[in-house]
Amino acid sequence: MNHTTTIYADYQATTPLDPRVRERMAPFWSESFGNPHSSDHAIGWQAHRAVEHAAASVAALIGADADEIVFTSGATEANNLALFGLAQRASPEANRILVSAIEHKCVLAASLAIAERSGLTVETIPVNQEGMLDLSALEIALDDDVLMASIMLVNNEVGTIQDLPTISALLSSRNIPFHCDAAQAPSAMDVKTLAHHADMISLSAHKMYGPQGIGALCIRRHLQNRVEPLIYGGDQQNGLRSGTLPLPLCVGMGMAAEIATNSQALEERCRIAHLRDHFIQLLQKSHCPLSINGPLGHRRHPGNANLRFDGFDAHALLGSLQPSLAASTGAACTTGLPAPSHVLRAIGLSVEESEASIRFSFGRFTTEREIRLAATLVQEAIASSYGALY
Ligand SMILES: Cc1ncc(COP(=O)(O)O)c(C=O)c1O
Repeated sequence: MNHTTTIYADYQATTPLDPRVRERMAPFWSESFGNPHSSDHAIGWQAHRAVEHAAASVAALIGADADEIVFTSGATEANNLALFGLAQRASPEANRILVSAIEHKCVLAASLAIAERSGLTVETIPVNQEGMLDLSALEIALDDDVLMASIMLVNNEVGTIQDLPTISALLSSRNIPFHCDAAQAPSAMDVKTLAHHADMISLSAHKMYGPQGIGALCIRRHLQNRVEPLIYGGDQQNGLRSGTLPLPLCVGMGMAAEIATNSQALEERCRIAHLRDHFIQLLQKSHCPLSINGPLGHRRHPGNANLRFDGFDAHALLGSLQPSLAASTGAACTTGLPAPSHVLRAIGLSVEESEASIRFSFGRFTTEREIRLAATLVQEAIASSYGALY
């Protein structure tokens, strides 16, 4: 088989920039170049208006107000700001942070750093085989000494969508601030009431067809004076995150949010879920030895297919698929040495099973033809590995 282009099945790592976003951003790289914080001239005012419009679009995506949006460099920074920000102004009695076992590495690493530096305790709430939070364990953990809970909405590896209203009701009944990492959510579900359920929400533009290098933390108004900034300087963004805002990136994130909110979003998610299911069916029909990791049905990100090929090494399989098909393992490879995914381990998989798992993720620009080709490529890779094995 001959492939001139790579089939992209790694939308949960990053989404391609939507051409409509690129078009909206274009003038802000050239003629509309102003500093949005220059208050003495019209070029600055124009830039400021563009940023305000972008903040309003991001706020509308999740049901918040524009002045509750703090632009950051991405969801990693947003998560750090939420956790460190609240921890640094915590009263001595509030000394426990609750996180789910399947949070993104940046939430887990930030909360561990807080524990090391300030002596707060971090408690991990387990999940079941589908990645759903153990609600009774959460309920048992709740007490007056809990500073905050950080629980993601949509998982980046197995696509699990949490029961947000129930989690939110449990936390708000005890007045515990709820931080929700929603980086993967706008592509996966309708998030227009998210801000009614969480006190702080992290977003990332490059997971929703916007540019890389920008994200946002929504901090509901009642919590803003309890958050210590990570970055000090010229007091931009209400002093919550100083530094000149990257105008084209803000505009791009705003446009990405507008597209995610439009009337075709539901139809798009259904189309993607259908393509994803078709991919799995094609592999099953060809008798590929596969199991599905994570939940089935409506509790799963529509583009996510985390598949396990028992007896195979996921890295080797992906390597043999290069450069024809881009997908990824859940393994964290930050040190150069791949470690088994903490998410797959948390849902009960063994190290071997984790290492046999590949995350395929599809999205807005995936076509039916690509799905068929991708399935054929995986079948071929499996068949030739069989040959190598036996
Ligand atoms: C759930 C989740 N949170 C946070 C992040 C980090 O986002 P960013 O790349 O914008 O820093 C990611 C990216 O993989 C993610 O999937």
